[in-house]
Amino acid sequence: MRFLAVTGALAIVAALGGLLYVLGGNYSVAAARPNFGIVTWAIGAIRDSSVSRHADAITARAPDDMATVRAGAWIFAQDGCANCHGGPGIGPAKFAEAMRPRPPDLKTAGEKHDAARLFWIIKNGITLTGMPAYGALRKDEQELWSLVAFVRNLRWISAADYATWIAPGMPAAEKPPAKPAAKPRATIGKK
Ligand code: HEC
Repeated sequence: MRFLAVTGALAIVAALGGLLYVLGGNYSVAAARPNFGIVTWAIGAIRDSSVSRHADAITARAPDDMATVRAGAWIFAQDGCANCHGGPGIGPAKFAEAMRPRPPDLKTAGEKHDAARLFWIIKNGITLTGMPAYGALRKDEQELWSLVAFVRNLRWISAADYATWIAPGMPAAEKPPAKPAAKPRATIGKK
């Protein structure tokens, strides 16, 4: 009994101490240095379980046919994904090196996540990481599914193919449906 009481009291003191430490502004949220191991672990665990749980409700419809993959390549280039993640034959922009977490190379994302999870991540973004919620920019879900198809096939797409697919002079027939690339950024989020 006594042992339990002491353990409980110690746990409460530790929790209160932790809360005071954090609310007192002592934990640094700087992106300039790594998080404590336990913080990195906790954020990763929360992210992974949240993505799996939410993606469970999604029925994947990502046909990986060539037209869809090419449409995805076009949007990937238009919407700036390559600035953070790089793309076939293209490295990320310099600023991405200073991000924490560092935006990953997406070549292996298709092995880590199934289509529904990729869709959820691209649509909703990942809070506190810099990964934007593209569902706010592209209301047509087919466009998001074409990004999924592109990411799933990234491993096999050569730099030369990618360059051809995203070139401004690409024959009109091969371009994805001509939607405006995105609303002017200033209006995003306003109804
Ligand atoms: C401003 C930078 C930025 C842009 C732009 C961006 N991302 Fe991300 N993205 C990130 C970061 C950072 C992560 C890592 C998040 C984490 O570690 O939890 C990420 C994670 C991802 C993941 C999960 C990867 C994995 O291995 O788990 C996918 C998929 C993804 N992004 C796709 C995209 C696509 C597609 C676009 C464009 C439509 C895009 N991202 C644009 C920063 C960005």
